[in-house]
Amino acid sequence: MCAMLAEPPAPAPIAAPAAAEPVVRVEALDHFYGEGVARNQVLFDNRIAISAGELVVMTGPSGAGKTTLLTLIGALRSVQAGRMEVLGHNLSRLPPHGLVEVRRNIGFIFQMHNLFDALSAYENVKMAMQLAHLPPKGMRQHGTEILDRLGLGHRVDYKPHLLSGGERQRVAIARALVNRPRLVLADEPTAALDRDSARKVVELLKEMTVEHDSAVIMVTHDYRIIESADRLVHMVDGRIVSDVVLHDALRICEFLRAVELFRALTPTQLTDVAEKMTKRKYAAGDTILRAGEPGEDFFLISDGEVDVIRADHEVARLGRGDFFGEVALISGEPRNATVQATEPVDTFVLGKADFQSAIEASAPFREQLYRVYFSRH
Ligand SMILES: Nc1ncnc2c1ncn2[C@@H]1O[C@H](COP(=O)(O)OP(=O)(O)OP(=O)(O)O)[C@@H](O)[C@H]1O
Ligand SMILES: [Mg+2]
Repeated sequence: MCAMLAEPPAPAPIAAPAAAEPVVRVEALDHFYGEGVARNQVLFDNRIAISAGELVVMTGPSGAGKTTLLTLIGALRSVQAGRMEVLGHNLSRLPPHGLVEVRRNIGFIFQMHNLFDALSAYENVKMAMQLAHLPPKGMRQHGTEILDRLGLGHRVDYKPHLLSGGERQRVAIARALVNRPRLVLADEPTAALDRDSARKVVELLKEMTVEHDSAVIMVTHDYRIIESADRLVHMVDGRIVSDVVLHDALRICEFLRAVELFRALTPTQLTDVAEKMTKRKYAAGDTILRAGEPGEDFFLISDGEVDVIRADHEVARLGRGDFFGEVALISGEPRNATVQATEPVDTFVLGKADFQSAIEASAPFREQLYRVYFSRH
């Protein structure tokens, strides 16, 4: 139900998935900083299991212990108490060279990106490929491809001092992902990035989980990433206080709740609508609706902007949280305008029949919608 995210459920022990071994398994993990009287406990009895293919987003207030947990998972810090298994190894038992080997299979995206100043963007990425003993043939192509995907096609041969902070961060991200590590640990990876670059990073990370079966654990407050997450883990005062698997419906629900039009629906009605919605993505320049065509769907924009065009001139620009397509569904007449994506656009789409049943189910929703309908018609 929609109410789930508002009130995180009580923490529950997380059973390991029956199929494959989890990529990360944490049990009874405590952590302390300092010694003697200055000794301070910052992690308390944490447990979590994360499988291949999961994009896990970790949120929580400053000082909650997110970075500490991430660095422990990444074998960058020694485990003091509890159990930590990463990529099939018990980290407490590994000798130093074993830890180095585990780290080699992890893609780290941390704020301190430590690029080599003497090397170009490509050479920094190439170094990661060389460390993974990739054959030299095809390296240049592979390296420039990933830089290009992150919007750095024109910066391939630039050295870090000629790059902006956001560009340097993206080189570091390219370097972390170029070998398609089985585990990616990222701490606020999009914090310094503009909207478009952040979107490219999110798409790449999502692709890592979907196509390459990597596990991604990411600390972020960025709503766009939370929308792509499979799981939302929330930490407070050194403890994981909630761990929610996000189904699309739940995610859509969260989004609908913030949209004025849907405020009129009860949580149950909202859940019903969310469950019937599907996600649809458009590229910049795509025509989403065409004037004169019959209306089949109702659209809600979750990210990006569109132009509404009538008789060749733009009549409105709509963005996140705006909707379109309802006019033809209500009137039964053909589309009265063309709608075009001005940039990459993510939408939630409701088919005609489901849209109509949502209208029938809720009088306040119908009223709200009709108010907009008359103002637009
Ligand atoms: N190197 C350190 N030495 C001593 N205490 C530390 C150290 N690093 C972090 N801490 C303390 O441990 C706690 C958890 O810090 P951590 O950096 O893990 O939090 P966080 O959730 O990542 O916060 P933020 O969102 O601000 O990055 C904080 O109370 C912090 O002051
Ligand atoms: Mg932190």
